[in-house]
Amino acid sequence: MSTSPPLHSGTTNSRARQNILIVGCGIAGPVLATLLLSSPQSVARLPQVTILERNTAALGSGQNIDIRGIGKHIINILGLTDEIKETTTGEEGVKIVDANNRIWAQYAADKTGKVETGTSDVEILRGRLAEILLGKAKRVSKDVEARGGAGIEFVFNDTIEHLDQDDDKVHVRLTKAGERSYDLVVGSDGLHSRTRQLAWGQAQDGCLKQLEMYGAFFSTKKEAADGEWRSWYHSPRGMSVMLRPSGTKDKSTMLVLLADKSGAIAREMRGSERDVVLQKRLVLEKLNGIFWQESRLKDAVRAADDFYFDCTAQVKLEKWSKGRVVLLGDAGHCASPFSGMGTTLALAGAYHLAGSLISHPDQHDLAFEQYEENMRPLVTKAQKLAPGMPHLFHPQTFWGACLLRIFCAAIYWSSIINLLSRFKGPPAQVRKFKQYDFVVKKEI
Ligand SMILES: Cc1cc2nc3c(=O)[nH]c(=O)nc-3n(C[C@H](O)[C@H](O)[C@H](O)COP(=O)(O)OP(=O)(O)OC[C@H]3O[C@@H](n4cnc5c(N)ncnc54)[C@H](O)[C@@H]3O)c2cc1C
Ligand SMILES: *[C@@H]1O[C@H](CO)[C@@H](O)[C@H](O)[C@H]1NC(C)=O
Repeated sequence: MSTSPPLHSGTTNSRARQNILIVGCGIAGPVLATLLLSSPQSVARLPQVTILERNTAALGSGQNIDIRGIGKHIINILGLTDEIKETTTGEEGVKIVDANNRIWAQYAADKTGKVETGTSDVEILRGRLAEILLGKAKRVSKDVEARGGAGIEFVFNDTIEHLDQDDDKVHVRLTKAGERSYDLVVGSDGLHSRTRQLAWGQAQDGCLKQLEMYGAFFSTKKEAADGEWRSWYHSPRGMSVMLRPSGTKDKSTMLVLLADKSGAIAREMRGSERDVVLQKRLVLEKLNGIFWQESRLKDAVRAADDFYFDCTAQVKLEKWSKGRVVLLGDAGHCASPFSGMGTTLALAGAYHLAGSLISHPDQHDLAFEQYEENMRPLVTKAQKLAPGMPHLFHPQTFWGACLLRIFCAAIYWSSIINLLSRFKGPPAQVRKFKQYDFVVKKEI
């Protein structure tokens, strides 16, 4: 039943190497794996890591995401700054437009990265970032294997269906790979984390705080008029659309936000969270009479092979670990796309968790405690959304939408925006954070 590494004879031998299961190869998962294999310990002492991912490959989908503050430091530690900067979306800033494409306000990005605005100076497509991070983990794994270590085992197209733990081990059952035992299990499986459900059971009920808003992400053929700015159009009935550059010549990205205060969408979606046909139908219905780029939007929804639809929500848990199981990224503390911080938190979490585990190799409880201590303040700040987000930005009536544009224009003209961004306090801008001795090999 057990596939423990040979060094591990099933006893708590503190000299044996740990085996760690990471569930979810999105953003946080591959970074954690990379950093766990980048400790200064001898290769024989490095943990044996398994990454489990339910998709067949790193998903190429997902749209524009921001990397801010501490996230940029971590990308740097991983040696990926250049690779990432080569494929950023190049967004110049945000324009608030009306149905006739008139600009009511515009906020430029600060390309120096000193001031955090709606557009970060590092914006990248999520799928692209996931691919880059997975690529790094694969290269580090190969390198460790070449030096006689265990490296990373990648188990894709599979999922976790059972989990229980005793004092020494976590026992899991994967749908295809069967039963296995690990010293530690990390749930980096996103907002709807299965790991969280399995390990916490009813104790996690209610931890998902709905923001009563759904988001549909997809791409569309780029048109000449799209330009390099984000256009944000608000329609009455609690909807908005963002059209954004993708960093490529042929593609623009779309985000449709749908307010769901009545809970009608939630009821329709229940039990069909992965039914893309149903999701597309629902979004198409809502796009009727949106007035702005309606036929283009609809064609794009129909044609999209990277359509991604989900609720927006935050995850709030009192503690991110339970025995030998720990949560990372959105699984533990999703802040929602409105925070602009999900990816940065996922990176920071992977960094602190890896660092804590390396600092306390034989005391996972201490490591988990330290990880949480370092991450909590960042998470608490990121989960405080800007005043009025998201519903103030999604008025239900025609006049509400007009008022919102006037409000944005007023802010723009009086440059209160600078004050506001100071008030919100860019949560990612931590200048001091705990350092660990990672040794990430330089690549050319
Ligand atoms: C397809 C997709 C598109 C997204 N698009 C956007 C976007 O456009 N804008 C935005 O702000 N945020 C988006 N997000 C969320 C964003 O990626 C996260 O907020 C952030 O990057 C935190 O990353 P994470 O690694 O914690 O979680 P995620 O990036 O959500 O990664 C979780 C990973 O776990 C995998 N997984 C889930 N359940 C299981 C299971 N049972 N077994 C095995 N593997 C599992 C998923 O397939 C995924 O690869 C998207 C997420 C996904 C999955
Ligand atoms: C993924 O798994 C399914 C069965 O669960 C199988 O039909 C499919 O071929 C697999 N895909 C790949 C790429 O291995």
